[in-house]
Amino acid sequence: MEKLYVGLGKNSYDILIGENFFERFPEYIGEVYKGKKLFVITDSNVDRIYKNEYERMFKGFDYKIYVLEAGEKNKHIGIMPGIYSAMVNSGLTRKDMVVAFGGGVVGDIAGFAAASYMRGIGFMQIPTTIVSQVDSSVGGKVGVDLPEGKNLVGAFHQPKLVLIDNYFLNTLTDRYFYDGFAEIVKYGCIYDKKFFDKLVEIVETAGISYDDENYKQKLREHLMKYVNEFVYRSCEIKKEVVEKDEMESNLRMILNFGHTIGHAIEQFTSYEKYSHGEAISAGMVDITKIGEKKGFTKKDEFLKIEKLLKALNLPTEIEYPKDRISEIMKRDKKSTSDGISFVILKEIGEVEIRKIGEKEIFE
Ligand code: GLY
Repeated sequence: MEKLYVGLGKNSYDILIGENFFERFPEYIGEVYKGKKLFVITDSNVDRIYKNEYERMFKGFDYKIYVLEAGEKNKHIGIMPGIYSAMVNSGLTRKDMVVAFGGGVVGDIAGFAAASYMRGIGFMQIPTTIVSQVDSSVGGKVGVDLPEGKNLVGAFHQPKLVLIDNYFLNTLTDRYFYDGFAEIVKYGCIYDKKFFDKLVEIVETAGISYDDENYKQKLREHLMKYVNEFVYRSCEIKKEVVEKDEMESNLRMILNFGHTIGHAIEQFTSYEKYSHGEAISAGMVDITKIGEKKGFTKKDEFLKIEKLLKALNLPTEIEYPKDRISEIMKRDKKSTSDGISFVILKEIGEVEIRKIGEKEIFE
């Protein structure tokens, strides 16, 4: 098992990354939490698959499981009162602990519940998808969506501990397995060309033809051999960025590469048609093509990103009406009166932030 330390002063915490170590969770939880009560928030899919594991994951604690309906479209403000009531009714005090057990939606909602209940109580993350392992469980961004836009209500509330066990990845559908690779590719694009090249090499050396009818499954088996390495490097990059800029004053914005267009696509399609990773996959390719057209991005970099994402079974082209997407982007948190802050690729491994008007972007 590997450990990363996120150094944020009194908000510092460990990320533990390993394989089949969930039975040791009680020991690790006990190291950072001396209380007894755990309020575990999960979703209907995770609960159905892993309910038999709870006793081993939370042994020795007095735990209550609260089950949300699975799906991004349930991450809205209206879900909160029911959660707060359940927290009050189970006698949760300021000294107790919330646990987010699930994907990004669960982590965002549970973290927001912890950030706001009684003006803030502790919480821990046990992410069960690749997206949540490499992105949303680290860095303390928590929140819910409004009808007007994604993540418009939320807080920065760091977890006390992040427990990443790739045991939970085995039950992901192929779609959600590959979904997480969009965020992994993102880290290579924004920060580490060597990591990007390594991903390309690992996919290519698998030697599986794209026409093979079992391509998805065979590549997945190959990638599983490296998954903890990918998760570790992604979390390491995220930790370095968050340590330098916890509250997203500047550097942290680079983590939003592909996300401004991607979030707008998710919202435009009511969070039903595309998963988060699928939307940002197309968003990364689009913004890189735009960057090239405007002369900000090295020529043909988008082709390399597109090739890798395609090989990872992710969409690289999503049709959308530009005027509607522009309108949605204008309400994004990164939008101000003088334009929207887009993360623009200079070349693979290096990005910059540029303010561009929402109309100008597609010109
Ligand atoms: N997901 C982007 C961030 O945590 O800043």
